[in-house]
Amino acid sequence: MDKNFYITTPIYYPSAKPHMGHAYSSIIADFFARIKRIQGFNVFFLTGTDEHGLKIQRAAEKQSMDTKKFCDEISKTFRELSKTLNLSNNDFIRTTEKRHFTSVEHLWKILEKKNEIYLSKYSGWYSVSDEAFYSDEEIEDIEGVKRSKLSGSQVEWVEEESYFFKLSKWQEPLLKFYDENPKFILPESRKNEVISFVKSGLKDLSVSRKSFSWGIKVPSNKNHVIYVWLDALTNYISALNYPDENNALYKNFWPATVHLIGKDILRFHAIYWPAFLMAANITPPKRIYGHGWILSGEEKMSKSKGNILDPIEIINKYGLDPLRYYLIKEVSFGNDGNISQEKLENTINSDLANNYGNLCQRVIAFSEKNLDLEVPKNINFVETDLKILNEFNSNYPKLLDFINNQDINGYSNFIVERLFASNKYFNDEEPWNKKNDKQRLNTIIYVSLELIRKITILLYPIIPDSALKVLNIFDIKEDKISFESIKNNEFLKSGKKIKKMKILFKKVGQND
Ligand code: MSP
Repeated sequence: MDKNFYITTPIYYPSAKPHMGHAYSSIIADFFARIKRIQGFNVFFLTGTDEHGLKIQRAAEKQSMDTKKFCDEISKTFRELSKTLNLSNNDFIRTTEKRHFTSVEHLWKILEKKNEIYLSKYSGWYSVSDEAFYSDEEIEDIEGVKRSKLSGSQVEWVEEESYFFKLSKWQEPLLKFYDENPKFILPESRKNEVISFVKSGLKDLSVSRKSFSWGIKVPSNKNHVIYVWLDALTNYISALNYPDENNALYKNFWPATVHLIGKDILRFHAIYWPAFLMAANITPPKRIYGHGWILSGEEKMSKSKGNILDPIEIINKYGLDPLRYYLIKEVSFGNDGNISQEKLENTINSDLANNYGNLCQRVIAFSEKNLDLEVPKNINFVETDLKILNEFNSNYPKLLDFINNQDINGYSNFIVERLFASNKYFNDEEPWNKKNDKQRLNTIIYVSLELIRKITILLYPIIPDSALKVLNIFDIKEDKISFESIKNNEFLKSGKKIKKMKILFKKVGQND
């Protein structure tokens, strides 16, 4: 079994400060990176910034700034955001780095050598905001402004000499590839969307621009810059030191296990990227997962719409883990989802403070008062104990399926069910009434502590900081967390001291 796992986020345009949509892609990717690590996988998690193209050049011009300086500044805010979000990324790539130029130039040369690229003329629509070419059928006129029907962004007419990639030639191989790799595009609904687009006929793709200069030059013709999407997509292999295919990073991690992206950039990842790679005789990635959008009301959150919820403000107000928990559990993964302060507060109160926080607090306070903070000795499991403990064991294959199919809602709902059941167990067993039956009292507390340990391991990829605080009471360090150990019902060593813990999550008022 392949024990390497490579996950990527999209690389973000540093055209403006990061917003909730960016935070969402990154947090989900981090969830997978962390869960795979505690499953014993060798993980490589990549994020970064996409810094070339007209969109960035214009954004810098608007601020009257040197383009590279502009990128340096905003890219830094994305790098800082990855720290604020507690991302466990192994690398942060910028497309303005030398290592990336080397890869893109190499890939271009191969495509040219293999006769996959030719010089011609492009005349058609271009959206700077999406950095995408659109056909006449994909354009509509709204109050005198031409817009993409897909994204709603404004398009402009472009007529210039351009290199073309022979995308049309890859239509049939792509369809065959989707057929042979039925889980290449997830969720299923997105896959169907891509397949019908490819079936409707692929035209050759313009892959260079001549009328501006901010980008990587075509090696054989410095009047052209390489199309920003061909440039950007290559980040996934330039971070692995491509074209050095014999180095450990490339050998271990290519093809990528999953490129996590938003649904708006599916076409680039599920059509162009595998076509470029196949044309260069490189294996395509294993999976593209297109998540939905984080909406503000009914609309996509975006800078141009001015409806941005700033992740930093939310984190300052509520803390990071509540935001991570909300985005992972409350947004139906693959579909669009909403976030508002009210919804976030409800989730903090019900799930984190009342359910998880409360369980930890009650059990530890009880242990302190009655057992001197010692993992109980002299225990004897009865049927009720084994029943609740074995839920982890018996559902283990189901949990693995959730993880491998990117069913993060199935995964987080399982945790919530276990939390309810554990609180109920503690209530029903009434350890406070068992002071005359020491063995029973010991057993109830042992089981409750084990339940907290198991649930906390499951929660670690979602709320790493809080989970580590809880695992610390059992002296379990981050690099010793083992996902598999949730199957072990007698993990905690009897007689060992546990530590006290501060309140994890405070309830928040509606108008705090
Ligand atoms: N630079 C390209 C990606 C290149 S990858 C080789 C890009 N950048 S972006 O900054 O515009 O968007 C990055 C990601 O953020 C995309 O996956 C996009 O879907 C996601 N989001 C941007 N706004 C979003 C929401 N409101 N909600 C969820 N994600 C959305 O595209």
